[in-house]
Order: sequence, then C-alpha cells, then structure tokens
Amino acid sequence: MRQLIAGNWKMNGLREEASAIVTPLRLDAADLACDLLVCPPFTQIMTVASILAGSAVAVGGQDCHTGEKGAHTGDISAAMLRDAGATWVILGHSERRQDHHESDSLIQAKTKAAVAAGLSPIVCVGETEAQRVAADQNKVVGGQLAGSLPPGFAGVVAYEPVWAIGTGKTATEADVAAMHLFIRETLVKQLGPAGETIRILYGGSVRPANAGSLLAVPHVGGALVGGASLKAEEFLGIAKAAT
Ligand code: PGA
Repeated sequence: MRQLIAGNWKMNGLREEASAIVTPLRLDAADLACDLLVCPPFTQIMTVASILAGSAVAVGGQDCHTGEKGAHTGDISAAMLRDAGATWVILGHSERRQDHHESDSLIQAKTKAAVAAGLSPIVCVGETEAQRVAADQNKVVGGQLAGSLPPGFAGVVAYEPVWAIGTGKTATEADVAAMHLFIRETLVKQLGPAGETIRILYGGSVRPANAGSLLAVPHVGGALVGGASLKAEEFLGIAKAAT
C-alpha cells in the first residue's frame, strides 16, 4: 500500500503563502512513491484545489460539521468541502478535541457525514503527556478508536501523541512501533479483516531528518505533518522519505 503524506496547515496560509507552498508540489508530486495531500484552511481550499487541478496532489479540509446544511453559523459541511474541491477531511485532531471539546461520538458523527458526502476521512487519535506518564496510552487510544470510528470504517487513522505535536519532540521508534501495532490489532478486532488495510499515519514533529526512520516502522502507513508542511521543500523532503 502506498504511504500517505498529509500536510495539516492548521490556521496558517494567506493566498500568497498558499500558492507558494503548493505550486512546487504540483510539479514534483508525479515522481513520488507516496500519495500526497494538503489540508489548507477553509478559505484557501478553492485556490489550492485550482492550482493543483490535474496534479497528483489531493486537497482536504481540517474539519466538517455533522449536518448537510442548515442553521449552524460559522460551520462548514462535508458537501461544501467537496464542492470547493476537497476529497479528504481531517477529523478529531487533538487541537479540536481540546479547543472545541470534541467528543468521540461527535467525531464519529462527523466521520459518517464525511463519508456520506464522498470525502475520505483521516481520524486522529493520541494520548496526552500525562496519560503516557500514567502508562494509559493504549487505554486512551483504544477508547478513541472504539468511540470515533463508525462501523465499516474504511478511511485513514492518524496516531498523534499530543505531547509530540508542534513541540519538536517525537515519539521513539519503539514507542511508534508499539502503538501502531496496538492500533492495527484494535482495528482488526473492531472492523474485521478490513482493519488490516487501513493506513495508520504517524504525526507529531515529523521533519525531513526523522521521516525516513519513522516511515520505516512497521504499520506506519504515512505521516500527518503540521509545521513542516508549510514549506514546500520540507514537505517534499518528507514525501521523498516515504516508501
Ligand atoms: P506538527 O503537527 O508536525 O507541527 O507537530 C502535527 C499535527 O498536528 O498534525
């Protein structure tokens, strides 16, 4: 299975910046051994999708609402993301779980809405530093998988230890190997044989310098990249490390 390298721009990217990031990707993506995805803020999706049209790079949103349309001021539906040119959406990122108090059941409802609108979901899970210190990481991640993934889930899962996001700290290869194996086993228990084919991304301070070793860990199906996805050469450096 091809690895997926996904860029999560978070709340970054004015028009000029967006086009500076994606214009080089458009040219280089065709020669890569991995799938490439960029997830700009909502306001840049149409611009980015039009620059990347006809290229090998896909575009995604960073969140969507559970409903199709209606009285939800400030929210965006999955159908709107599709309409703007997105084919993917990130759901349940730890920053949304924290800043917007998103629960597993809300994330599951969003995942169903995304799939119904024809988007491929990336559902994020991961423990906090305190939870890891208490050796609760499997309990926490297992609970998030049980609560956030709908029956028949066929999207992508991203494991992002909260303490590694934007901190420059990465999980050790041994920690990543143990967690990705645990997630694989949990997916198979939860979803049956289909759980074997789900790509499990690692996220948290992925850089060109550490991408090769992280992407070589068994059951790592790619990377979810924050900070380093805002510079084309760094993002491409990570993509070139994919197998
Ligand atoms: P980071 O963010 O690469 O800046 O640590 C990863 C993420 O939050 O998806």
